Amino acid sequence: MSSSLAEKNILLAVTGGIAAYKAAELVRLYVKAGANVKVVMTATAESFIPAKTLGILSKQDVLTDVSRENAASVEHVAWGRWADAIVLAPATANSLAKVANGIADNVLNETLLASNAVVKVMAPAMNEQMLANPATQRNLQTLQSDGWTMVEPETGFLAEGYEAKGRLADLEKIVSTTGKALAADGADSRDAFDNQPLKGRRVVVTAGGTKEPIDPVRFLTNRSSGKMGYALAEAALAAGADVTLIAATKRDCSAAIHLVLAPSAKEMLKAVEEAMLDADAFIGAAAVSDFALEKPFDKKVKKTSSDSHLTLDLVQNPDILKTVGTQKKPGQVVIGFAAETNDLLQNAERKLKSKQADMIVANDVLAPSAGFDKDTNQVTLIQANQVPIEIGPKSKTAIAEDIIQQLVTILDGQ
Ligand SMILES: Cc1cc2nc3c(=O)[nH]c(=O)nc-3n(C[C@H](O)[C@H](O)[C@H](O)COP(=O)(O)O)c2cc1C
Repeated sequence: MSSSLAEKNILLAVTGGIAAYKAAELVRLYVKAGANVKVVMTATAESFIPAKTLGILSKQDVLTDVSRENAASVEHVAWGRWADAIVLAPATANSLAKVANGIADNVLNETLLASNAVVKVMAPAMNEQMLANPATQRNLQTLQSDGWTMVEPETGFLAEGYEAKGRLADLEKIVSTTGKALAADGADSRDAFDNQPLKGRRVVVTAGGTKEPIDPVRFLTNRSSGKMGYALAEAALAAGADVTLIAATKRDCSAAIHLVLAPSAKEMLKAVEEAMLDADAFIGAAAVSDFALEKPFDKKVKKTSSDSHLTLDLVQNPDILKTVGTQKKPGQVVIGFAAETNDLLQNAERKLKSKQADMIVANDVLAPSAGFDKDTNQVTLIQANQVPIEIGPKSKTAIAEDIIQQLVTILDGQ
């Protein structure tokens, strides 16, 4: 039995393609792996396989447009929330397009839209031309950026009577991908924090995009939301650390985290230097602006009718990671982030050396499921003389737990 599926709630969303009949076997495999399964299906799917079959195999009522007609409760919302993982299989081109665009015109896509499950798996199945169509490819890209894991359709004998790409992936593969995605999403690493490996340690984390003042009402900033830094602070806290979070962006966090708001790079550096006096580790997840105005305007800059240009003179900001790296005391661990759009590994390795960091978390901000303001991320951990560790795509919470586990390993190895 796959332990990552045992006792997990799987919402299987079945749509109306020829492969819909395979949903019966899919339900059986999830149940065999110990999962609780509920099925929601479209009206077209029902024309390929009766809801009754899937209801008997899942031992649950099946949610259809007809079944919810007389329902007293708002079942599609409750079912969406119940799910640990949602699995869209087989996924028709039509339903993929609707889900990718947030359309809610039947019980299936309403349920998916109402779900807050982080683990989302899709297994497309369709004719090879429908699959290759730029519209379908665009929708698949969008869904992957929204955190969906795709189980690629296979090349094989299609219902059309010839060999081509578009067949529903092997059912065992869909089930094992769901199990892996659930395991990767943190249940396992959360267990590893039960013994509080960072108890007695002080960890300083920075988060968010700095705001460099232009005048009293305007500032220069970047797209960083602070989600990754806040997730790291929470994961360090869960591992037992005493956490100081120095943030340029305010978000909700646990009361046990010492939150220091430091909007600009200069304010952040000051707070970091103070916190590092007695800290064991620094994680610089903030997106610190490289440049700032040397002298922000005292008063709001106004338009004038005589000049249509405004020139801002920017100077380099202090490099917080480099300052912490070069000033680190014996035993202190320094971890930095590298948000890159190209030559990810080379740039991260260069940064590892120049900043004297112990680890760089390289982040391809252009990858579909990574980057600014997303709930998911995909990173590579780079340390001197070690094989890079690739993590994700998965939730920022799960990525943070993996980074904190790596921090534990580095601290333990000293
Ligand atoms: C016999 C038959 C087989 C079909 N097989 C597929 C398929 O494998 N994949 C697909 O995307 N659409 C397929 N379609 C088209 C879908 O049924 C159609 O787009 C429908 O609107 C999908 O509805 P749904 O996404 O709400 O379930 C098929 C249609 C027919 C008549």
